[in-house]
Amino acid sequence: MSTVIVRACQTESLPSPRYNTDSMTERVSPARSLHGVVSVPGDKSISHRYAMLTSIAEGDSKIYNFATGADCQSTLSCMRQLGVSHEFTEEDGRSVLTVHGAGLHGLRAPSDTLDAGNSGSTMRMLSGILAAQPFVTRITGDSSLVNRPMRRVIAPLCQMGAQIDSTREGFPPLNIHGRPLSSIDYELPVASAQVKSCVLLAGLYAEGETTVREPVATRDHTEIALRELGADITIRPRVAQVRGGAPLKGKTFVVPGDLSSAAFFLVAGLLLADSDVILTNVGLNPTRTALLDFLRSMGAQIKLLHVEQVNGELVGNLQIKYSPLRGGTIEGAVTAGLIDEIPALAVLGCTTRDGLTVKDAAELRVKETDRIESIAENLRRMGISVQTEPDGFHVSGRQRFRAAQIDSFGDHRIAMAFAAAALAADGACEIEGAEAASVSFPEFYATLHQLAR
Ligand code: S3P
Repeated sequence: MSTVIVRACQTESLPSPRYNTDSMTERVSPARSLHGVVSVPGDKSISHRYAMLTSIAEGDSKIYNFATGADCQSTLSCMRQLGVSHEFTEEDGRSVLTVHGAGLHGLRAPSDTLDAGNSGSTMRMLSGILAAQPFVTRITGDSSLVNRPMRRVIAPLCQMGAQIDSTREGFPPLNIHGRPLSSIDYELPVASAQVKSCVLLAGLYAEGETTVREPVATRDHTEIALRELGADITIRPRVAQVRGGAPLKGKTFVVPGDLSSAAFFLVAGLLLADSDVILTNVGLNPTRTALLDFLRSMGAQIKLLHVEQVNGELVGNLQIKYSPLRGGTIEGAVTAGLIDEIPALAVLGCTTRDGLTVKDAAELRVKETDRIESIAENLRRMGISVQTEPDGFHVSGRQRFRAAQIDSFGDHRIAMAFAAAALAADGACEIEGAEAASVSFPEFYATLHQLAR
């Protein structure tokens, strides 16, 4: 067995993503319970936004607890190629990222293709900024990202006046020909915070007021960060409006811990009897906490402790204790609210009394992998019966995990969800492609082994 390399916070500037591309197999043995106090890395969604927005703000910004995963490093590398420098230093044992903002109009043409790596957020959100630049940018990604749909950002950006072409219609690599943009009033055809953010970022450069309307509320980190940086933004339920031209002013941010990473420990704690885990400084933005509501609706005991607001985002400690669960159905707006947590919930669902049904989740098929298929394949390998649908799946309750060879299929959330399942299996499991976890949580296996008893 090779071991996953856990990297400590870096203290110097990182020109390329810290993604370990060697294929690794991680062995996870069964555990009786999960115990301890742990902090998860900075939120990936928020870190992307702070990296991009502070890059186009005026002056320096400091960002504490910036996400350690490769995805956010991809965003930083792209910003560096666009002429924005940054460095990591250490302050009282804490890693801090300083971004030297170039201002709205200070980016420069990159000398090479930008590489978004595995990160859909980098490509989709950054496209909004690139669409307004007085130069052409080519942006690509890894073998997963080049197969993810980009028409959802190309369409509104072209309506605003940009020109975007791609060799494979609607898929990366994208050639983005920046243009002076006009504002739009855009109704999102899919519930997507990435697309909403892309249009709002383009709106920063457009003449007049850009409005984005969403069918269901998605994460609102972009709106909050824009307000914190002094943008002219109005936030109403399911509608955000930004006026172009107002400068952003650099400032200091502290990134909350990532609830989507905490989800794997919440699930593992609910799989193993007698577990008692405290996760510290986790982001509790109400647009992200559908997971907690759903777990509670199934009977989970979750306590929130020391909740406060930092940079407009709610942050607090979470305590989870093992509790037997009823099972349930995820559908409609709830599906959009916990889309990233479905791999973890799938694993939990088949051990509940009544099982789990997931509906309205066709978006799962266009994530880092087709997550409906990668979840179903690994559950079957573990002896679990599962029925898939075009937009979801069903697992019946009271099933037990058999030891198996798991495949991450290169998807971080699949690797981590099934590592949690492996703790409850009847023997040791091997996770192939375990290194995929480093996209969002390089320290994941070390933390899991530390908590497992
Ligand atoms: C994200 C939005 C979601 C989510 C992704 C991160 C974001 O994607 O699945 O992991 O940071 O805005 P969509 O916008 O495609 O739903």
